[in-house]
Amino acid sequence: MEHHVKDMGLVKKGRQRIEWADAEMPVLAKIRGRFSRERPLHGLRIAACLHVTTETANLMRTLVAGGAQVRLCASNPLSTQDDVGAALVEEQIAVFAIKGVDRDTYYRHIHQALDIKPHVTMDDGADLVSTIHSERTELLKEVVAGTEETTTGVIRLRAMAKDGALKYPIIAVNDAKTKHLFDNRYGTGQSTIDGLMRATNLLLAGKTLVVCGYGSCGRGLAMRARGMGAQVVVTEVSPLHALEAAMEGYMVMSIAEAAKVGDIFITVTGNRSVVRKEHFEAMKDGAVLGNSGHFNVEIDIPALSDMATGTREVREFVQEYRMADGRRLYLLAEGRLLNLAAAEGHPAAVMDMSFANQALVAEYLAKSGRSLEPNVYTVPSDIDQMVARLKLDAMGVTIDELTPEQKKYLQSWEEGT
Ligand code: NAI
Repeated sequence: MEHHVKDMGLVKKGRQRIEWADAEMPVLAKIRGRFSRERPLHGLRIAACLHVTTETANLMRTLVAGGAQVRLCASNPLSTQDDVGAALVEEQIAVFAIKGVDRDTYYRHIHQALDIKPHVTMDDGADLVSTIHSERTELLKEVVAGTEETTTGVIRLRAMAKDGALKYPIIAVNDAKTKHLFDNRYGTGQSTIDGLMRATNLLLAGKTLVVCGYGSCGRGLAMRARGMGAQVVVTEVSPLHALEAAMEGYMVMSIAEAAKVGDIFITVTGNRSVVRKEHFEAMKDGAVLGNSGHFNVEIDIPALSDMATGTREVREFVQEYRMADGRRLYLLAEGRLLNLAAAEGHPAAVMDMSFANQALVAEYLAKSGRSLEPNVYTVPSDIDQMVARLKLDAMGVTIDELTPEQKKYLQSWEEGT
């Protein structure tokens, strides 16, 4: 079987870590059990471009249990866990991913995943879709539909659909409630703090931590940073989100103001050049810069490099940039997703829900994908509800049901007090 991973000597470690994650992914395990009995994905070829982590491994195992043929490549050059790649190859799942590959190899891996001639593409950042539309248009003949895992990918795909450029339908898994209200918030919140701490070992208590972007991810990050004792500053461009942050008790200010007071800056906007030259100029000596947004464009790294009189790696994932006036700024993980590069990404328990959505959407596409027009769709709400119910079951949480009287009351407009 064709594959490209770092070292097959890492199989045992990978297998153990995948098993550890699996124990925290009961919803996906339940779906896997049903898939192996019913084989709803029989004959389906899936190309997946996702962060190659233990949680993704359990999604791949679920798709294979359902009867799919799968090829997996990485959705970021720094997020691959090499032991996971090896363990999946050992299970006969074709992986093309190595942590820290150069740009050419990264894109070669994407092409190799696409060589499966997919019916379904699974993206985290729309790389498969954009490669198919630009360089592999011959694949459009067979591709039925795709899924998209993250906000940035969904934004790109909606822009394509609006311009009439999107040639096949996509389900925005990111927009499922059981995805972005949990994975983006609790997952990114905790794991970004984890990445920050592993990379720097800084004490957060008493530090001023600036969160740029108070969306699904930023809310979680701000909440967890506050929990660690940091003074949290939020910067925003949306008046609504800024207002919400202010009412949550965070200090809200422009990035120009925040640049002067922050000890640590983390961007999670999905936008570019959020922290740039004029802000670097205002920062304190020792300021730390990290990003958990999808692309490494949120911090203007070329500008930082231009301004620096010298640079050196001071710890793994920490690059020092020395300014002409002697100040030092520290960039984490090359400005790439901090939680995945310097830590292990989201905890399995939260990816359980995101990837349960992916698996159930794959089943839905196998059944109904051919009837969809090229557009970006939300996850059918019965899938969203089912994932929430299964997760509550797995957590041993029971909830109430509406009584017939309550149902009637909620549907009527005549009843008053
Ligand atoms: P979102 O759309 O919910 O929030 C983004 C926020 O940033 C919005 O409130 C927007 O107003 C704000 N914003 C945009 N430009 C800004 C600027 N110049 N300055 C300050 N604020 C600005 O998006 P979400 O779901 O929070 O995702 C953010 C990014 O994180 C995306 O790139 C997404 O793909 C990525 N992501 C990363 C994950 C990870 O594991 N690290 C997990 C999930 C999403």
